[in-house]
Amino acid sequence: MKEYIDRLREEHTLDREGFLTLLSRRDPATQEYAMEEAVKVRRQIYGKDIYIRGLVEITNYCKNNCYYCGIRRENRKASRYRLTPDQILDCCRDGYQLGFRTFVLQGGEDGWYTDEILTAVIKDIKREFPDCAVTLSLGERTFESYQKLYDAGADRYLLRHETATEEHYRKLHPQDLSLEDRKTCLRDLKEIGYQVGAGFMVGSPGQTYAHLVEDLLFLRGLSPHMVGIGPFLSHQDTPFANEPNGDLDLTLFLLALIRLMLPKVLLPSTTALGTLHPDGRKLGILAGCNVVMPNLSPSGVREKYLLYDNKIATGLEAAESIDLLKRQMEEIGYRIVCARGDYPVS
Ligand code: 5AD
Repeated sequence: MKEYIDRLREEHTLDREGFLTLLSRRDPATQEYAMEEAVKVRRQIYGKDIYIRGLVEITNYCKNNCYYCGIRRENRKASRYRLTPDQILDCCRDGYQLGFRTFVLQGGEDGWYTDEILTAVIKDIKREFPDCAVTLSLGERTFESYQKLYDAGADRYLLRHETATEEHYRKLHPQDLSLEDRKTCLRDLKEIGYQVGAGFMVGSPGQTYAHLVEDLLFLRGLSPHMVGIGPFLSHQDTPFANEPNGDLDLTLFLLALIRLMLPKVLLPSTTALGTLHPDGRKLGILAGCNVVMPNLSPSGVREKYLLYDNKIATGLEAAESIDLLKRQMEEIGYRIVCARGDYPVS
């Protein structure tokens, strides 16, 4: 099994059979080896630095009805909110003081945020904080819209593909959403010039190892600057309420494989990982992650942006606890840096 890890590290890819063997025959020794090698690769490129991103959850209104997601349109129990441009600016001001140099504006697909409103917000952020990067995570939009937001100053865009297998995509999403549209958006974003992030959930209902292999191969082909993966976590008011959560070790293993496959990738240790296990975020770093994304949303709305149950919203998760996060990272030999943390050139 170690030969496969070595080959992935050297050649940055494996064939379908290779990935399938690694996933289906994964044992503790292979897991440990993959994580160690991933950490070495990470260190060669990023040293001990961990980048932080201030996450601003701007709206939990969403026109989509994804079966896994707690803010899906048909969840009548969700208490909906949207932040005004002024509130978003205030979050960035708080974040800047705390040392953040990237702001991630994330939200459901909410028609209230027109191109006009968003371009104005992006321009305001860039005017006040010219040394900061703006990342958007606002779902599917048209090429023209993505272009306008980019021209306004947005630097990066996160849009997880969720699963690269057509048949599995259908199990997770209603008919009006399609994997093809998703892929078109990702291609558009790349063409426009964004630093682009894709990704998927681990252990989403109906997922097999074969699906995960396709996710890895898709990522390999897309070659994104960022990859966001985390365990699926059930939400009580969704059709998947009774589905089991994704597995911690499998998530960590996949993080390690992604680091070996895309050595320079910006790889966050996600909130979902931190929700699944109290040390999840730390373990993510020890699997090759190099980014954490603390929450900068106003405390009053944090408990409303619930994509899944039990989402961490206090303690280490809250941006105010950045000192605690710093200490946690120092304990395992890393340091949080105050920098934009762009994808390395060359
Ligand atoms: N569990 C884990 N991750 C989820 N997401 C949405 N719902 C869930 C869930 N129940 C992820 C999706 C989305 C990202 C913002 O959050 O992958 O792209």
